[in-house]
Amino acid sequence: MAKYKIALLPGDGTGPEVLREGVKVLKAAADRFNIDIETEEFDFGGDRYLATGEVLPDSAVDELRGFDVIYLGAIGHDKVKPGILEKGILLRLRFELDQYINLRPVKLYPNVETPVKDKGPEDIDFVVVRENSAGLYTGFGGVQRKGTPYEIAVQEMVYSRNEVDRCLRYAFDYTQKRNKRNTLALCGKTNVLTYVYDLWERAFHEMGEKDYPGIRRDYYHVDATTMWMVKNPEWFDVIVTGNMFGDIITDLGAMVQGGMGVAAGGNINPEGVSMFEPIGGSAPKYTGQNVINPLACIFAGQMLFDHLGETDAADAIEKACVAFLQSEHCVGMSAKEIKEKGSSTEKYGDAVADFAATV
Ligand code: IPM
Ligand code: MN
Repeated sequence: MAKYKIALLPGDGTGPEVLREGVKVLKAAADRFNIDIETEEFDFGGDRYLATGEVLPDSAVDELRGFDVIYLGAIGHDKVKPGILEKGILLRLRFELDQYINLRPVKLYPNVETPVKDKGPEDIDFVVVRENSAGLYTGFGGVQRKGTPYEIAVQEMVYSRNEVDRCLRYAFDYTQKRNKRNTLALCGKTNVLTYVYDLWERAFHEMGEKDYPGIRRDYYHVDATTMWMVKNPEWFDVIVTGNMFGDIITDLGAMVQGGMGVAAGGNINPEGVSMFEPIGGSAPKYTGQNVINPLACIFAGQMLFDHLGETDAADAIEKACVAFLQSEHCVGMSAKEIKEKGSSTEKYGDAVADFAATV
């Protein structure tokens, strides 16, 4: 019997509410496929920080290294200045656990509404591989003469060849394994960022030509990428890009696939401990109301099982979500609809868990 230790980080805002349902569904699928999961909860987040002044204890990262995987709710607290928790918890874990890939599927499921006119599930199904450890997120830079009219602020986009190569390697392998359209698109800005994206472009073609002759290579500037994601999303199979562009285009991707209520992602260290999360944030406005959509977190659970190699359990979660979306239990994707139509986060989780145990 396969056995996994899963660290739970409910975090802030609606994080605990959605993670509760995610774990419920994970357990339903685990029971069905004889997978033993052992969970341990950690209280990192805004409330702990406000009470103790500590963002993340130094022992935390080492402790988390002892788990097979991490399942995260959300980070971001309305009473804590933006940046403290995001950098101190989310980004610190991504960096210190060297989760250098952020994998973000953009998939429209039947019965989920997309704001993109005349496009359906057959058109919207691609994956963004976002580099997750470097670029503009490294914190290189500085400020001088702060607060004066002569202030200078610098924030540098830093990439080593190794960081680019390992991300590209993952993206090519992923595209090959996915075997859908066998097309990998590099999203960059070679017309302006002539150092960093020149490095990406050279490395991309070198690796593709040498090791992946069966994978077609496309290139798009980031501004054009956003345009085509809306106009012709069916062109995309897998997109690989740097950290900042990946952050931006995956919020657009989330909208294209039906909103933050369904968008999930994985912070992946292919050789280490990975962390799965809904990408929508902590939604402070809805905290404690039991109306936030838990599907994104449930899809993150699907990715978690997939990552562990538990494909039957992962498939069962996906099928359960599809069945749920077509059932009378589903009253909408937004917290507003769930609230107005008298359903709840918990009812959503219960229904998906029932399907996960059966369909
Ligand atoms: C994301 C978020 C984070 C990021 C923030 C909260 C630091 O926007 O996961 O996309 O920029 O990566
Ligand atoms: Mn983001």
